Amino acid sequence: MKEISVGIVGTKFMGRAHSNAFMDVAHFFELPARPVMRAACGRNAADLQAFAARFGWQTTETSWERLVARDDIDLVDICTSNVTHMPIAVAAAKAGKHVFCEKPLAMNATEARRMLDAAREAGVRHMVAFNYRRVPAIVLAKQLIDAGKIGTIRHFNAVYYQDWLVDPNFSIVWRHDIKEAGSGAHGDMSAHIVDLARYLVGEIEAVTGAQEIFIKERPLADGSGKGVVTADDATNFLARFRNGALGSFLVTRFATGRKNYLRLELFGSEGSLAFNLERLNELEYYSRKDERAEQGYRTILATESIHPYVNAWWPAGHIIGWEHTFIHEVRDLLLAIAKKEPVYPDFYDGLRDQQILDAVVESASKGRWVEVPAGE
Ligand SMILES: NC(=O)c1ccc[n+]([C@@H]2O[C@H](COP(=O)([O-])OP(=O)(O)OC[C@H]3O[C@@H](n4cnc5c(N)ncnc54)[C@H](O)[C@@H]3O)[C@@H](O)[C@H]2O)c1
Repeated sequence: MKEISVGIVGTKFMGRAHSNAFMDVAHFFELPARPVMRAACGRNAADLQAFAARFGWQTTETSWERLVARDDIDLVDICTSNVTHMPIAVAAAKAGKHVFCEKPLAMNATEARRMLDAAREAGVRHMVAFNYRRVPAIVLAKQLIDAGKIGTIRHFNAVYYQDWLVDPNFSIVWRHDIKEAGSGAHGDMSAHIVDLARYLVGEIEAVTGAQEIFIKERPLADGSGKGVVTADDATNFLARFRNGALGSFLVTRFATGRKNYLRLELFGSEGSLAFNLERLNELEYYSRKDERAEQGYRTILATESIHPYVNAWWPAGHIIGWEHTFIHEVRDLLLAIAKKEPVYPDFYDGLRDQQILDAVVESASKGRWVEVPAGE
């Protein structure tokens, strides 16, 4: 069987989620090429050794420049803070490696465009890790929309709530610093729901938004005082879709009591759909075509073998979890590399997402609606 050698950069949250995906994928899915976990890269040598040993990475590098230059790597997986995405991805593509990059693709649309150009010029596969497109219930929603089940979509309402910053004593991390993160809740969480909006509804043509930093200073992690927070704690915005639908988006790290509550509601001329990431096996569906006396939201448990990706897992009702979305993502990427076919969402999708995020930031600073560029 053909092998695809993977080099991963970043050893923490996403490093673990992606490592788990590469470990598991070939055990559950039929693949023409098997991933080989060739090298892991991190900055702290002791942490890196422990990470590599735990997940089974064969070798280590403490510099991503060395990792992307290695002849025995086919695919570079970027699981680092946002400021590093562009330089690593461009260097990897130039070295002829396929590139898998965490979201948001970049710090801004200018960087995202450079990444897309580099990947296209090199002719490599490129994918941005919007893993919620790989939730079976979300793919089912897309199938129902494409089959016309909810008719013309009028509204896409999305919230993404977390509460890990409610505590004013939570110390400063890279996510608070726009120089390393590009933005705060916006790049982290709006990026996901904007991708789902584009996937399920279509392109966004204009936005108007507001952003806030509720707690302006936080303790430094080393206890030496306080640091200034420069990245947004919360962002909300309205959107007009090209097809006439209206969108409403709210992301915040101050939703007291909500942990990872990504909720979508789509209202169409023939029916409606709703989804909540904290109950990710379920899709709520309402159809106007049901007998009037029986009309009401039904909850579809998207765990039947006919539902997307589910056949590889367990019998109906034996639910899957958040980590499976990464396994599905990696499965589709490996298939695309083996078959030399495109895979989505790709860096074009990452760029379009970033253009929308940038337009919201501009709108919030100018206090007016901003058009999103019509194309790349
Ligand atoms: N898809 C999702 O659901 C999801 C969830 C969380 C984070 N993310 C994204 O994943 C990326 C990483 O986030 P995280 O939560 O894993 O962050 P993290 O802080 O847990 O880990 C970041 C890792 O990057 C490493 N790193 C940073 N600069 C480096 C460099 N120059 N060389 C080598 N390693 C370097 C750090 O040492 C650390 O191992 C971000 O882009 C984030 O937005 C995606």
